[in-house]
Amino acid sequence: MEKQFQSTLQSNYSLQAGEVSAQSPSNIALVKYWGKKKNQIPTNSSISYTLTHSFTTTNLQFKPKEEKGFDVNVFLEGEYKESFAPKIITFFERITDYLPFLEQLSFEVHTSNSFPHSSGIASSASGMSAIALCLVEIEQQLGGTLTEDERLKKASFLARLGSGSACRSVYKGLVEWGENHFMEGSSDLYGFKYPDAEVHEVFKTFHDTILLIHEGQKSVSSTVGHNLMIGHPYAERRFEEANENLKQLLAILKSGDIEAFGKLVEHEALTLHAMMMMSDPAFILMKPHTVAALEKLWEFRRETGNHLYFTLDAGANVHLLYPAQDAEAIEIFIEEELKQFCQNGNYIKDKVNF
Ligand code: DP6
Repeated sequence: MEKQFQSTLQSNYSLQAGEVSAQSPSNIALVKYWGKKKNQIPTNSSISYTLTHSFTTTNLQFKPKEEKGFDVNVFLEGEYKESFAPKIITFFERITDYLPFLEQLSFEVHTSNSFPHSSGIASSASGMSAIALCLVEIEQQLGGTLTEDERLKKASFLARLGSGSACRSVYKGLVEWGENHFMEGSSDLYGFKYPDAEVHEVFKTFHDTILLIHEGQKSVSSTVGHNLMIGHPYAERRFEEANENLKQLLAILKSGDIEAFGKLVEHEALTLHAMMMMSDPAFILMKPHTVAALEKLWEFRRETGNHLYFTLDAGANVHLLYPAQDAEAIEIFIEEELKQFCQNGNYIKDKVNF
């Protein structure tokens, strides 16, 4: 039990019916979280950009109930999803010590994503973060006494227990997660909003265009994925390198060195995939069109000098990262040369959110 996140409700709080809503964005990691210990503690620090147009909107309706246990019904885009409830219930079991009302209310969760469910864009980060924000709001409605900052910190703490990367979706800008010795304020328990003042203006203009190379379910779930790092022959070196990369990235973010940024971020993405290829069992999550898009991107960069870089999640899609100053030429290139690698020609134009 983490004392600082204990419920602030009085022991005689009274239950009532009501509803709350929250919207939470997706995020894209620059230094990747890959590997965790018990209780959703990360094995290395990570940092991500929060996105603008890819988000989850969640409405939570609640009313008092008498029976014991959790009672949750989930609707996605208005459609009842029986299969979603167990995931939320597992989440509630992990956080019930911090929100004593969870077992005393029945919940109806109405959630929708601004991106298609089949797109392969992970909705767990934005989804868990949105629910966590709603739950903290309910605590407040029932008489909780947290300040705005404390509410966000608690939402990030709770979101982490739902899905690790979700703790970084609570804040805008760049968000770090994972305790390290070089960032004051960093913690394994919640996301830390990296100060905007430490970030060069050019990095606040970045676009993230997501090439939907392969729509559909990911072939490795995050639980299986993180477990691949247990006993992995390169695990310890990877965890060290991630922390070194983060430290280096912070200096780059301050300096405005776009090329150094791109080099580091691409290395992180390829390392994540290399780790999976060297795992037992092994996974290759890139598709032929992923590789084709990366080769074209490198060729374009060599020939034009435009600042176009990529990162990857644990899937086949490619996140194209580029500053606004080069957006015009790059977007023509995407339309003419990269779109062909997207399933049904689909890609999502997003931006970082500062
Ligand atoms: C590759 O946060 O989805 O996107 O904690 O098991 O829910 P769980 O994992 P999750 O893992 C995300 C991994 C990643 C890298 C990252 O976002 O840092």
